[in-house]
Amino acid sequence: MGYEVKNEQLRKWVEEVAALCEPDAIHWCDGSDEEYDNLCNLLVKSGTFRKLNEAKRPNSYLAWSDPSDVARVEDRTFICSLSKQDAGPTNNWMPPKEMKETLHKLFKGCMKGRTMYIIPFSMGPLGSNIAKIGVEISDSPYVAVNMRIMTRMGKAVLDVLGDGEFVPCLHSVGAPLQPGQKDVIWPCNKEKYIVHFPEERSIWSFGSGYGGNALLGKKCLALRIASKIAKDEGWLAEHMLILGIESPKGEKTYLGAAFPSACGKTNLAMLVPPASFKESGWKISTVGDDIAWIKPGPDGQLYAINPEAGFFGVAPGTNVKTNPNAMASCSRNTIFTNVALTPDGDVWWEGMSDEPPAELTDWQGNAWTPGCGRNAAHPNSRFTAPAGQCPSIDPEWENPKGVPIKAFVFGGRRNNVIPLVYQAFNWSYGVYLAATMGSETTAAAVGKVGNVRRDPFAMLPFCGYHMADYFNHWLQVGRTNPNPPRIFSVNWFRKDANGKFLWPGYGENMRVLKWIVDRANGRGSSTESPLGWMPRYEDLDWTGLDNVTREQYSELTSIDRDVWKEEVLSHEELFVKMYDRLPKEFLHIRELILSSLWRSPEHWEQIGEVNPEGWNE
Ligand code: OXD
Ligand code: MN
Repeated sequence: MGYEVKNEQLRKWVEEVAALCEPDAIHWCDGSDEEYDNLCNLLVKSGTFRKLNEAKRPNSYLAWSDPSDVARVEDRTFICSLSKQDAGPTNNWMPPKEMKETLHKLFKGCMKGRTMYIIPFSMGPLGSNIAKIGVEISDSPYVAVNMRIMTRMGKAVLDVLGDGEFVPCLHSVGAPLQPGQKDVIWPCNKEKYIVHFPEERSIWSFGSGYGGNALLGKKCLALRIASKIAKDEGWLAEHMLILGIESPKGEKTYLGAAFPSACGKTNLAMLVPPASFKESGWKISTVGDDIAWIKPGPDGQLYAINPEAGFFGVAPGTNVKTNPNAMASCSRNTIFTNVALTPDGDVWWEGMSDEPPAELTDWQGNAWTPGCGRNAAHPNSRFTAPAGQCPSIDPEWENPKGVPIKAFVFGGRRNNVIPLVYQAFNWSYGVYLAATMGSETTAAAVGKVGNVRRDPFAMLPFCGYHMADYFNHWLQVGRTNPNPPRIFSVNWFRKDANGKFLWPGYGENMRVLKWIVDRANGRGSSTESPLGWMPRYEDLDWTGLDNVTREQYSELTSIDRDVWKEEVLSHEELFVKMYDRLPKEFLHIRELILSSLWRSPEHWEQIGEVNPEGWNE
């Protein structure tokens, strides 16, 4: 042991795990630079890592995983609460006792021939009253070095922990080595289990070395286990980015925003405002890109921290135009996984440049040329980069007290149906809109709802308990907080009849954010729509943008009565699955939405409704 460990419970747990998993050696991570370098060198020697060109990508490495181990495995993810009802209809469940028996068999001797790393980590700034401490035991040095970037990791965490409680997170790639057996570059097991015991607050993960399956602080602790703790203790653990918006007058407003995968969450978290906004003094800053822990503060406002210390960002599509801040974040001290290698020892992925390089080595180690018909980088390839390297990082991002949240924003990818932006009439409407958000799985036909994967609060794969109890918890937060944040819905992805995007997106989303900030601060004009408050054309700031016409805006914000009838029925499909615990409010809100949809079109015209055409029938 490199240092003395006072926590009795931790020492005992490590002994038990060592006896079960039978590793060759035990390494207690101290979190130092020296340790990081040594582990990276070890990974280079074993062939898992390739050191990138020091001049182009200083202190950075590339790993290629086994082709069978490239993403989170939702169908192998379990919430093993004591009762099946508590896991709810959207989670996989097994009785905890049975699951423990299965896991004990799998973990028996699973670390033979390997080193077991003890990785103490804090989710959130060390010592913050919102932070939580976990200890991951893993037989993967790749996990240890990624955890060093993604969390505050090492001995200092144990100093803060003292005799206190921690969340035990046990991980194995599930690939023991027999004496003399040569290792592979990405050990893993075909059989995978990502298991959470919410009452016991523990995590067991077997068989995968990749991302959210293996870096257990992120989705497993900071969302699945933390969402359950948050419900019990009266706070929120959310799949949200946290963003700061500073006005030319120096007024700073923070918001939390939740989007399902593939909606440009990282781009929004690191948004670069359009030139006209920058010139007049608007600034955007990033507190977090994926997860927010939010607690009521002494002044009755909700305060949020980003529990992570790094970004585990999707690489493809990221470039200096779509997200210069992400590009700068991964310009050095970064671990890349499953991107392509350039002949001069740098990285490349689809969308990084307009012209792909003439030749590459793809993520599976094969020679690649443009037009060969294969992806050079895996679509879920990632960069693990320190958040502190992001040029837009907010000065308060490590403030242990968190930042005050004024607005919650929810959005999905809908080419139809959902208007560009609206503000919920009140908290309960807001919870309803977040509960019914989702993304289209296939492009929907014009005037049709299409196939939507409902992803309530973008938490479907991450809620550690019954989803309807989670809705009730959100309603409860609105009851107990005197001035909760205002709630908004956005949709950047609406298309016209020819399938063309109606909204330019990216930096131009700033125009919508500005309206949201005004509304959240009790200003800003709007009109009533059947769903909530909406900006009229003249309520948005169009300075410097001339390619969204009034007609286009009208299409972007229209609410079609017939399509909404279908949409409301499709909400029902989600709700019947969880009818046993569904909040009674939801049925009433549905009725209220329907009754607004049935009001006379002239009513909406008279009050300045955004697109009266949609109502003239
Ligand atoms: C992620 C996800 O990787 O949400 O952050 O899938
Ligand atoms: Mn995420």
